[in-house]
Amino acid sequence: MVSNMKNYNIKSMKLYNFVDRVYNELRELGKETSGQLSVNELSSFDQLHYHGTQAIDFAIKKFNINDKSKILEIGSGLGGPARYLAKKTGANITAVELQEDHNDAAVYLTKRCNLDSKVEHICGDFLKLGFPENNYTIVVSWLALYHIPDRKKLLNNCLNLLKPNGHFYVEDFAFFKPFDDNEKLELSNDFFANYLVSLSQYETDLKVAGFSNIFIEDMTSSWIKFTRDRHKNYQDNIDRHTRVHNKIIVQNMLYFYSFAMRYLSGGKLAGIRVSAKK
Ligand SMILES: C[S@@+](CC[C@H](N)C(=O)[O-])C[C@H]1O[C@@H](n2cnc3c(N)ncnc32)[C@H](O)[C@@H]1O
Repeated sequence: MVSNMKNYNIKSMKLYNFVDRVYNELRELGKETSGQLSVNELSSFDQLHYHGTQAIDFAIKKFNINDKSKILEIGSGLGGPARYLAKKTGANITAVELQEDHNDAAVYLTKRCNLDSKVEHICGDFLKLGFPENNYTIVVSWLALYHIPDRKKLLNNCLNLLKPNGHFYVEDFAFFKPFDDNEKLELSNDFFANYLVSLSQYETDLKVAGFSNIFIEDMTSSWIKFTRDRHKNYQDNIDRHTRVHNKIIVQNMLYFYSFAMRYLSGGKLAGIRVSAKK
């Protein structure tokens, strides 16, 4: 595990501090409080993972997600992946998000995209909520599971909620080499990391929970490039971002983008895509 101290303050991670960014971007679109929104015009700011909607397209293709699919998403953030899945495939999605301000923004955006009949947003800690068992064709998550400390309970819940032969598909973090104490502290504070293990331990956890057909793909080099480009683009457009948001938001975003880039490039943090079957 990344550390034996638990971080109870998710807002110590700067990405999560300024949900106002969403409303600032709507103002910039000229649609602050009214007007139909499209999924595409939100995608530059509502996808809080790497490679934006391309990452969701990968999952759609791999698992043939379609209008018969029943999806549970863990850690749905601003709802970007859930809305994209619903719009592109017609699937039904239950999107679970811990942070109230993010969930409120997600509900608001989903309604304004007219996707509220397909996407149900639920606010709370996935580990503490109850969902119907044997009910979902796929459980998905993009960059949220490493936030959740109790992996055993998390995986047991996922297994129980899936239909027989259902799929588990996540993008997440792990480590190539263990972190020192200072790194653990930084990852806990700035990344809200509560469960980071080696790739082999990641696989063992899934096996022990009862999953089969486990496949872990190393995404680190692709994510290093993504985080470098993201940081550079943000810096290149700093005047635009300062005008749309403000200096404090811009400083926080740059701090967070630089942190993610530094850790992924550092040789210890691993970015992974994981699939498994019930
Ligand atoms: C990096 S964000 C990714 C959001 C979304 N998956 C996306 O790709 O746009 C991870 C999200 O997981 C949420 N999260 C963390 N722990 C959670 C928990 N125990 N239950 C539900 N959501 C959680 C965080 O609040 C955060 O919004």
